[in-house]
Amino acid sequence: MEEQTQKLQERRKRVFSAIKPTGNPTLGNYLGAMKYWGGMGENYDSLFAVADLHAITVAIEPKTLRENSKRLFALLLAIGIDPERDVLFMQSHVTAHAELSWLLNNYTMFGEASRMTQFKDKSKKAPDNVNVGLFDYPVLMAADILLYQADIVPVGEDQMQHVELCRTIATRFNNRYSPTFTVPEGKVPTYGARIHSLSDPTKKMGKSEGNEDGTVFILDTPEVIMRKFKRAVTDCGAEVKAADDKPGITNLLTIYAALTGGTAESAEREFAGKSYAEFKQRVGEATVDVLRPIQQKYESYRRDDKALSELMLAGAQKAAGIARRTLEKVYKKIGFVRI
Ligand code: TYM
Repeated sequence: MEEQTQKLQERRKRVFSAIKPTGNPTLGNYLGAMKYWGGMGENYDSLFAVADLHAITVAIEPKTLRENSKRLFALLLAIGIDPERDVLFMQSHVTAHAELSWLLNNYTMFGEASRMTQFKDKSKKAPDNVNVGLFDYPVLMAADILLYQADIVPVGEDQMQHVELCRTIATRFNNRYSPTFTVPEGKVPTYGARIHSLSDPTKKMGKSEGNEDGTVFILDTPEVIMRKFKRAVTDCGAEVKAADDKPGITNLLTIYAALTGGTAESAEREFAGKSYAEFKQRVGEATVDVLRPIQQKYESYRRDDKALSELMLAGAQKAAGIARRTLEKVYKKIGFVRI
């Protein structure tokens, strides 16, 4: 008994996060979330997924979905997720996600889901494809997190509202039956929680924003990265200083701080007296330096389709084992007859 209690106390905190295989992954995805995923396994039980079920809430060609999914899986290996130590898998390979998502629909209020900013934004952007999946998207996301009893969910700022809804659903279920789900906490980085477009710094840098000049992709060549930073919109004045009326420079300072592990203030000091052009050149170089080793590793992972499939299978098996335990508990608590 004592041993058991000790074991429980010793249980490491668990981390879960995921990324959708729509469009090409960006510097925003990297600095807001992925950058931290590789190292988390040292201190936490870490699980990460390619959220392919989420990808079909917007129109996507079968060939693109397939290629993007493999590409993202390889990229997650390249950023340092260790398939031996961590659990890395494709969401659609673990059927428990779709099952729990259906169950949780019944503990999510229509009004709550209607208030999600991302649903409202995406509905506006594609008014002829406001499908039920798009509406239900945060419930599937809650299922992803709750299946693994995650304590911490490292995400960019735009996903925090979804993590909040997940907490609401978990708490409601726990209160209605008995404690079943760990109520997770969302965690955003100090610098990089919201990276803005280089060409329109009032907008988020997004995978599918359609503005290639303003978006740096993780797999862009060094030449393309340098060109994008060279053309980045700056503000009036000449001082490299963060300010509300200087969204362009503020965004570049944030990128630099996130890339180098410094602060916006230390970056301001480093570039005091320097021109905007010199500053942009340095941010570009820092980006290239950080992304180059990732790109090299990515190429070797992506080339080997067979090895990728094997890792997907092993990851799915590990994830499915954990997920099934939670799901069985949930079925029983609700009152389903089990065989
Ligand atoms: P997705 O694929 O849109 O983005 C993946 C991660 O990148 C972050 N991010 C950003 N961070 C800073 N600046 C930006 N410009 C920027 N753009 C994107 C996102 O906040 C996210 O952390 N629904 C999720 C995927 C998902 C998930 C989950 C996440 C599915 N199930 C469970 C956490 C837990 C999504 O679409 O992320």
